[in-house]
Amino acid sequence: MNYANITGWGKALPPAVLTNDDLATFLDTDDQWITSRTGMKERRISNVSVSELAYVACAKALACAGKTADDVDLIVFGSCTFDELCPNAASNVQRLLGATNAACMDLNTACTSGMYSLTAATAMIRSGVVNSALIIGAEVISPLMDWTNRDVAVLFGDGAAALYLEPDENETGVITESLGCFGESREILSIEGWGAKYRDPKRTLCDINWDFHGQDIFKRAVEGMTKGCLSTLEKSGLTNEDIDLVVPHQANLRIIKTLGKRLNLDSDKVFINIHKYGNMSAATALVALVEAIEEGRVKPGSKVLIPAFGGGLTWSSHLILWGDRCTGLSEIDIEVPASDKTGLEIIQQLLKH
Ligand code: ACO
Repeated sequence: MNYANITGWGKALPPAVLTNDDLATFLDTDDQWITSRTGMKERRISNVSVSELAYVACAKALACAGKTADDVDLIVFGSCTFDELCPNAASNVQRLLGATNAACMDLNTACTSGMYSLTAATAMIRSGVVNSALIIGAEVISPLMDWTNRDVAVLFGDGAAALYLEPDENETGVITESLGCFGESREILSIEGWGAKYRDPKRTLCDINWDFHGQDIFKRAVEGMTKGCLSTLEKSGLTNEDIDLVVPHQANLRIIKTLGKRLNLDSDKVFINIHKYGNMSAATALVALVEAIEEGRVKPGSKVLIPAFGGGLTWSSHLILWGDRCTGLSEIDIEVPASDKTGLEIIQQLLKH
């Protein structure tokens, strides 16, 4: 049976930065609280749509793999902040890339969407349904955020990352994963007003209430990611000492540290970038993986463990056996367009609405 090697990777971060001090100009909060409770210092605010961000990440991943848009058989777009529900967002990325041979699907498991997309595409390559795939984890949360609610507004940022997958006879790519969901507790992380259930003449589109039970989410996130990692290690016959790098979903630095203690992980092996981007939901783990590769933390043959957690309450843990290449085959001169507004100016405009 073929494996699905990861041969291309790319990220797209909006240029506009929103710092903790910026948040303190319109919310009753401060840098000290946000840093000590979450580990976050700043996040990015997008000046383009989530499909455009995803397109930039995909174009980079294709160049990295030395492929063209014609080579792509499948696009799986993981997110929970799609520009529109029909037509789907993957078809927009297909059009922007000119990837006319690609089947296109959207996948929503909230913050784990990028990782579940990796599972879906890996399985379709390994079973021979498709011969290659681009998978995306991308979110543009800022236009949907309630910027008057300090409980949630400080936690999130926008971003995107993509991976290119192709068949390989050697054992590589995702070797084992564990997926699951605590559906009985799904209401502790809900975004009211976002979907057909909330059709109500008194409600306007994007009239959204972020109903998050932070401390309960914290506990379930630690529980779900611990469970996922232990299951993945057991299935693969490995221990934590065999793992070269852990690239966790970055929702809160304290969640990551608690997970590290539960799994008895060496902190040097845990990749952290939450201070730069906050929680980018579906984009988080994939952006972290791309940065870990760029920083030389992933080496040929590295065993990389990626635990993630999100709304649903979905959880996952992927074990990746990295292939023999950690640098791109080529580069493309493409970036997210410059923003004529600062992060704070974009939010001030959203607050006016
Ligand atoms: N600035 C200042 N004070 C704040 C802020 C803020 N932004 N937000 C809350 N507070 C206050 C609260 O009102 C409370 O005040 P009180 O004691 O007077 O009542 C106090 O700070 C403590 O609030 P807690 O909710 O107890 O703070 P906690 O230490 O639990 O941290 C946090 C809150 C950061 C949300 C944490 O619970 C968390 O990270 N939870 C999980 C993360 C999460 O929900 N992520 C969303 C996506 S899910 C995912 O990606 C996995």
